[in-house]
Amino acid sequence: MCGIVGYIGKRQAYPVLIKGLHRLEYRGYDSAGVALINPAGNLNVYKSQGKVSDLEDTAQHQDLTGSIGIAHTRWATHGEPNFRNAHPHLSQFGRLAIVHNGIIENYAPLREKLWQNGRTFKSDTDTEVVVQLIEYLQEKQQLSFQQSVQQTLQMLQGSYAIAVLDKNQPDTIVAARKGSPLVVGVGDDELFLGSDASPIVEYTNRVIYLDDEDMVVLHRGTGANTSEVSIDLMTVSGDRKQPRIEQVSLDVSQLEKGGYDHFMLKEICEQPQSLRSCLQFARRTLAGEEAEGIFTLLESSQRVLITACGTSWHAGIVAKYALEQMVRVPVDVDYASEFRYRNPVITRGDTVIAISQSGETADTLAAIEMAKNQGAKVLSICNVIGSSIPRASDKVIYTMVGPEIGVASTKAFTAQVSVLTMLALLWGKRKGTLSAARCEDLLKEMDALPEKIQQVLNQQPAIRRMAETLSFASSCLYIGRSYNYPVALEGALKLKEISYIHAEGYPAAEMKHGPIALISQEMPVVTIATASDIYDKLVSNVQEIRARQGRVMAVVTEGDTEVVRMADCYVEVPRVSECLSPILNIVPLQLLSYYVACLKGCNVDQPRNLAKSVTVE
Ligand code: G6P
Repeated sequence: MCGIVGYIGKRQAYPVLIKGLHRLEYRGYDSAGVALINPAGNLNVYKSQGKVSDLEDTAQHQDLTGSIGIAHTRWATHGEPNFRNAHPHLSQFGRLAIVHNGIIENYAPLREKLWQNGRTFKSDTDTEVVVQLIEYLQEKQQLSFQQSVQQTLQMLQGSYAIAVLDKNQPDTIVAARKGSPLVVGVGDDELFLGSDASPIVEYTNRVIYLDDEDMVVLHRGTGANTSEVSIDLMTVSGDRKQPRIEQVSLDVSQLEKGGYDHFMLKEICEQPQSLRSCLQFARRTLAGEEAEGIFTLLESSQRVLITACGTSWHAGIVAKYALEQMVRVPVDVDYASEFRYRNPVITRGDTVIAISQSGETADTLAAIEMAKNQGAKVLSICNVIGSSIPRASDKVIYTMVGPEIGVASTKAFTAQVSVLTMLALLWGKRKGTLSAARCEDLLKEMDALPEKIQQVLNQQPAIRRMAETLSFASSCLYIGRSYNYPVALEGALKLKEISYIHAEGYPAAEMKHGPIALISQEMPVVTIATASDIYDKLVSNVQEIRARQGRVMAVVTEGDTEVVRMADCYVEVPRVSECLSPILNIVPLQLLSYYVACLKGCNVDQPRNLAKSVTVE
């Protein structure tokens, strides 16, 4: 979703801002823009519908000078994705420019009041109301730039990350956050802003993660002191804070495609390495100093409530199967967007496990805040270090797979499932619901998973052939049972996200209760039919599909004879224990959807209408 970049320092701001916007493209957006204050003190704004490259085309013959600026990629919420609604937005008299991520819920009454006071609006956005209000307060109440931003923020309801320029103060950026992420990068004589650290890491690894309701004033010295920069950090209500500078260990090469055609393919193919790093880190966390705190939190709970969105929610369902089987603890899994609004029963003895790749998903963040307020403890499983969800949690286990840029989540899923499975194994062993010997066997099996994933990746030619058949379908079903029911959901999600083919995941036995009515030659059924305790039951489900001329594409265990006989095409995966099979079985399905999307000429990494980091509800 929307991305913010800002720069103040000695170099030309425009190249830094554009490169930063490219780094944030993965979040998903539909227009882009940039605002610069040039050396003569003019505030220049350029924007464009479409991609950052369209913005570059628009801006190429314009005045792009200036060493202070803000920039934005917009994912439309209020108003169509067009030029008028693209950010930055200017105030009525052109003194101020703003970029904003989030939703201002009370924008309508504020807009009405401003309109009654003579302000007119050029866009349909909630954001323009904010910049108009800041300028209005500057004039009516003779407030300084900083004071007027502060007062405006106190009047807003909803969520925001903002950065504001005032052409009368060409050495200052004022920025703030509430509910949407914002990071300050601290260079030697320059300061940066980013929605995350990715636009910043090529210049500095020193960052300040703003907390909710923080406001920051970034200054550059004037005259002889131009090389000095300073940061004033305070809360929106005016209390001063000491900035805490943290180191980020993000490597720029992790933000590039590294020879692959798409980030998604790179991320699928790097799963042997990413999983290895995830497993090592999780093992260290669950055996080290942190472990006692994590297990004490879990062991004090009567039940576990898992909350997440999208792919992370699917990882949560796998975790339910593992935790209930190995720890014999009751587990509920809820979409965060439902959990936060359905008034769930939460008691002091509950532990909430929040799962999130980005650590910024607005619904998941709000769900854990609500659960904490009602007395639950929160453990989060996150990938992005320092992001909002782990910071709001009592405990965190990071998945450590490096940045995931493709909108369709892949390596994050295998890592989330692995961490949660390891947690279930070790907790089960401590509780005595899983024997120490079985736990050790499964942990050893987990260590061998990266190699087995590599064996699946080696079958790309066969999976590509399967994709050729699937690419002609307009609708498709994915079925699986037990641990592989969530894999069916995730496989279907992957297909619809990037190839726009309608796909649904079902527990295989539910076919009889509706979906079997859809079976025809035109409706392929992707079946996850690997070795399990209920393999025979699944074989019967496949027979029922075949009996109705359905076409079966199967994921089977090496050496399978029964499903292979009935399938139109199949891919083999190495044998593993059923509880670990989701980690392996999802890989051919990720590749399948990738190749289908490529064959259909879809934009794999930035599918239409989708965002990587969903920072609004
Ligand atoms: C978006 C992304 C998905 C992701 C979901 C949850 O929809 O496109 O890939 O699974 O958000 O995101 P999270 O970062 O919380 O895992």
